[in-house]
Amino acid sequence: MIIAQLSDFHARPHGCPAYGFVDTNAAIEGAVDAVLALDPAPDCVLVTGDLADCGLAEEYAIVRAELRRLPMPVYVLPGNHDRRESFALALGADYGYLPKAGFLHYTIEDFPVRLIGLDTVIAGEDGGEICAEREAWLTTRLREGQGRPTLIFMHHPPFTVGVDGMDVIPCRVSASFSALIADHPEIERVLCGHYHRPIQRRFAGTIGYVAPGTAHQVALDLRPGTENWFIMEPPAFAVHAWRLETGVVSHLQPIGDYGPRRPFVLDPAYPGKPQAAHV
Ligand SMILES: [Fe+2]
Ligand SMILES: [Fe+2]
Repeated sequence: MIIAQLSDFHARPHGCPAYGFVDTNAAIEGAVDAVLALDPAPDCVLVTGDLADCGLAEEYAIVRAELRRLPMPVYVLPGNHDRRESFALALGADYGYLPKAGFLHYTIEDFPVRLIGLDTVIAGEDGGEICAEREAWLTTRLREGQGRPTLIFMHHPPFTVGVDGMDVIPCRVSASFSALIADHPEIERVLCGHYHRPIQRRFAGTIGYVAPGTAHQVALDLRPGTENWFIMEPPAFAVHAWRLETGVVSHLQPIGDYGPRRPFVLDPAYPGKPQAAHV
């Protein structure tokens, strides 16, 4: 099973680049092209939040049109830049797994790996939350899985990453949330977005994974007390490949044209080449 994870589209109205500068809509198109170029094709695509920049209907129309180019199932979740109601209104017809009301949680049971999508949004806030109601929902879903391999995906990481500019806008969770995750070793990863950088850390007995954005990235800055800045480093997405014998293995795939694949053919004068190979 192969899963592509895209994150943080931040679609904008036509002609209005983000921060006056970032053409996020062209970046979505590039990301979808990059997924379509994968061979073998992924079995499904996750989009881990911030699909729109301002939660506008025009932004969701752009997202919807791009995602319709993907032939495989697509699973979307809202982020803090989305508006839950307009998100569900714009995408609910295409994605029947989205609940008609309340939190936009769901579980996908169609693959060897279960997919549990968690809605972490707090309306009007940059940070997110797994409140008691959401944690109770997750508790039940995990119990239903009876130990089958599982990926949890959500927008806000439920863990700190040691970067002050990011850690001030986290996902608030209770102490029991970490215990719940740790109680389920079948959880292969907790996949997130929001921080616009590729980040991994150990979390509650599993791996916490943050995918980069498809457009702008957050600049790496490990100095204490500094704020976030964005930077136009190469965009990328995650490819999570699962096999029974390995579990999930996560790869990072840059988006963009980096030239053709080339064979590893050594120059005849390559100094490290064995003597016999020169004949
Ligand atoms: Fe974002
Ligand atoms: Fe976000």
